[in-house]
Amino acid sequence: MANKIVVILGSPRKNGNSSTLAGSLITGAEENGAEVETFFLQGMDIKPCNACDQCMKSPGSGCIIDDDMQKIYPAVRTAESIVIASPIYWFNITAQTKLFIDRCYALIESGGHAFKEKNIGLILVYGDIDPFRSGATNAIRSYQDIFRYVGAKIAGLIYGSAMSAGQIQKNKQLMKKAYNLGKKLSLKG
Ligand SMILES: Cc1cc2nc3c(=O)[nH]c(=O)nc-3n(C[C@H](O)[C@H](O)[C@H](O)COP(=O)(O)O)c2cc1C
Repeated sequence: MANKIVVILGSPRKNGNSSTLAGSLITGAEENGAEVETFFLQGMDIKPCNACDQCMKSPGSGCIIDDDMQKIYPAVRTAESIVIASPIYWFNITAQTKLFIDRCYALIESGGHAFKEKNIGLILVYGDIDPFRSGATNAIRSYQDIFRYVGAKIAGLIYGSAMSAGQIQKNKQLMKKAYNLGKKLSLKG
């Protein structure tokens, strides 16, 4: 039995670099029989967390905000793996990606967070050639804290530099790395 994988696309460019790498990952995963569900955050109605704390008052109840996160919650709850693909904007992940992450605060359950023990795949693309100067390292540090806090495991991290949409395709080594991460995430355990 192959895994269910949810892919979150946090760039406003549907055919941009982070989505292109995610596409390669999806190919690898689907070839192994994984079930993949993709959410392109741009254009989805996802409001910021308003700190009402209803989710904390009754763990497992979920988020009371009635917007498109209600389509994503059941998918991420039931997936074995979650992939987040984001460009670097102003030295960190995009606002779209951050909104999604903030709203995952509501996934607290009686036994811990719904992401506990899930495998996480991360994709980051940035314009600067240096991962430190680009701000990619800030995003990686944030992700390390986020997924340690919820008890999830970062199973793979794909990061590289590209500027214009789709340019990353020329980086065959990185495309292959993404494809291989898809294969890895498709396997149980
Ligand atoms: C608003 C904005 C902010 C950006 N900020 C950064 C940055 O801080 N560091 C960097 O290296 N590249 C930055 N970039 C470049 C993008 O990260 C780069 O073009 C990337 O390939 C976009 O990924 P995508 O094709 O998946 O959208 C920025 C681009 C935009 C539009």
